Amino acid sequence: TTVEWEAESYDMGGHDTYMHKEIHEQADAVDRALRGRIDDRFSTVHLGGLNLDARDARAVRRVKILGCGTSYHAGQIGAQMIEELARIPADAEPASEFRYRNPVVDPDTLYIAVSQSGETYDVLAAVQELKRKGARVLGLVNVVGSAIARETDGGIYVHAGPEVCVVSTKCFTNMVVSFGLLALHLGRTRDLSVADGKRIIEGLRKLPGQIEEILANEEQIEKLAGEYADAKSMMFIGRVRGYPVAREASLKLKEVSYIHAEAYPASELKHGPLALIEPAMPTVAIVPDDELLEKNRAALEEIKARSGRILAVAHQEQEKADHTIVVPKNEDELDPILMGIPLQLFAYYTAKAMGRDIDKPRNLAKSVTVE
Ligand code: G6P
Repeated sequence: TTVEWEAESYDMGGHDTYMHKEIHEQADAVDRALRGRIDDRFSTVHLGGLNLDARDARAVRRVKILGCGTSYHAGQIGAQMIEELARIPADAEPASEFRYRNPVVDPDTLYIAVSQSGETYDVLAAVQELKRKGARVLGLVNVVGSAIARETDGGIYVHAGPEVCVVSTKCFTNMVVSFGLLALHLGRTRDLSVADGKRIIEGLRKLPGQIEEILANEEQIEKLAGEYADAKSMMFIGRVRGYPVAREASLKLKEVSYIHAEAYPASELKHGPLALIEPAMPTVAIVPDDELLEKNRAALEEIKARSGRILAVAHQEQEKADHTIVVPKNEDELDPILMGIPLQLFAYYTAKAMGRDIDKPRNLAKSVTVE
């Protein structure tokens, strides 16, 4: 059965675009994703629809996450969270590629299909192929009752509410939060301690307030978008937890502004892309205050030495950057949820300054139900 969302959630409510509206709905959306799921007594979470008992959860040897576009990037962050918190080897792959390389399907692997619409053909076909080979497949889906939700063995609804803008913002955030819940759940059936479980739960609870803080900084981001909108091309860099954040931010900018953007791990700069750095090629750097802070700072120095302009998203002002957007610090594992949010606004304001059709970028569709 398909649950219909209420008509009022489609009202623009004073925003000029759905993208702007949906960016601003994120604190509420995250709150919905957490509601009723946290179990303080055992420092874990309840995920009702998972259909995976503790014995099944412990038998998982690998996790493979499949999705397309923004959902694939959410899966990349999710894979890192699962590795960090549950210590299960995990990775994400575009569903379309997975399907065509005759993948080895392994009964001890837990497969997770990620999709906002639950109707993306490439993801659905990957799910069907996996099921045909006897694999266990879960869904991480927004639209209740959608094809992928129906065809998977169980899963997590991300509860972002209706997303109308072709490019995904609030649903991406809720997907990553949902992966955080899943990682915590898997971790707590294994070796994640009560203390660490508690630490992650406290971090999750802080998210809605911290999202409000980021969105309150909108004016600074609007101004910065104006400063960089003349760029023909932009570089996005990050490391480990910051890298999928950089990839998603780069995709967002491309989709809505049509500015060419590339994302690289900061560590790979010296192996090629550094040749592109000059004043006309600005870099957006994700610089979390974690164990890689000094490494990231060294990358900024390299870029500065080539006269590159730098916009950093960081937990504190970056001396080498021309501009820093400071975001509130959460737990290291959960920082990726927050660090991309200012860059959604950055993409939005850049596209707005350029007069783009923000909710319906050229050549793109909200869900691609054909191959
Ligand atoms: C389309 C949209 C993207 C989206 C992707 C996957 O290409 O334009 O914004 O990320 O499909 O969609 P899904 O509904 O499966 O998350």
